[in-house]
Amino acid sequence: MARTLRFNIFRYNPRNPASVAHMREYSLGETESMTLFIALNRIREEQDPSLQFDFCCRAGICGACAMVVNGKPGLACHTKTKDMPGEISLMPLPFFKLVGDLSVDTGSWFRGMYQKVESWVHTSKTFDPAAEEERMDNELAEKIYELDRCIECGCCVAACGTALMREDFLGAVALNRVARFLIDPRDERTEKEYFDVVGSDDGVFGCMGLLACEDVCPKDIPLQDQLGMLRRKMALAAVRGMLPKFLRKD
Ligand code: SF4
Ligand code: F3S
Ligand code: FES
Repeated sequence: MARTLRFNIFRYNPRNPASVAHMREYSLGETESMTLFIALNRIREEQDPSLQFDFCCRAGICGACAMVVNGKPGLACHTKTKDMPGEISLMPLPFFKLVGDLSVDTGSWFRGMYQKVESWVHTSKTFDPAAEEERMDNELAEKIYELDRCIECGCCVAACGTALMREDFLGAVALNRVARFLIDPRDERTEKEYFDVVGSDDGVFGCMGLLACEDVCPKDIPLQDQLGMLRRKMALAAVRGMLPKFLRKD
């Protein structure tokens, strides 16, 4: 027999001074293959047109639908109700600026973070559109692609206790981004230049190894491996920086 699901959904409109944060309850008949995306759209269409939430792709690609589902950050479009208990609580991702109800502004944070870590290939070469493409070893190209799969959903940041306590902490997604450029041979940044970006308490040395970031990543990006690799490289860079110049290689 089809279940009736009970949803407890966070409601608050920060642009309305009269709005008070509260949880509102909705009931909905479960249908086959129902996702939270489908459920939320039905609630909005049939019960409450004022409910705010974000979606674009419905296919786990755009990252827009991330929210806290029964206490854990995840993608609403990829969460099937059949895998959930009959009572479902939905909250907006913490850490990011609240737009309203379940909608948060991840875009501004990601833009600022990309600027901070200078998220682009640093090269002295000028682009020649007529030149032949430079070849890259397949294995290396795949390693870079693996780290490039981030969909900017923000789940890893929202699940990280360090990020919630310290808003300047770059978070696993930023450190993964830096790791992606560090292994890219086209990026000419030196170890010292990378150290200046992430070799601090706001960066790799602020990570307390809480591991929640990798647990919640919907794309299964190996965040821990990248954090470990970056920590080793930055620790070595710090030691080298302390050596007298004649003992350094750079
Ligand atoms: Fe989302 Fe994973 Fe990217 Fe973090 S690393 S923003 S959890 S896709
Ligand atoms: Fe946070 Fe992940 Fe480090 S949860 S503390 S970034 S291991
Ligand atoms: Fe795009 Fe869910 S709507 S990831």
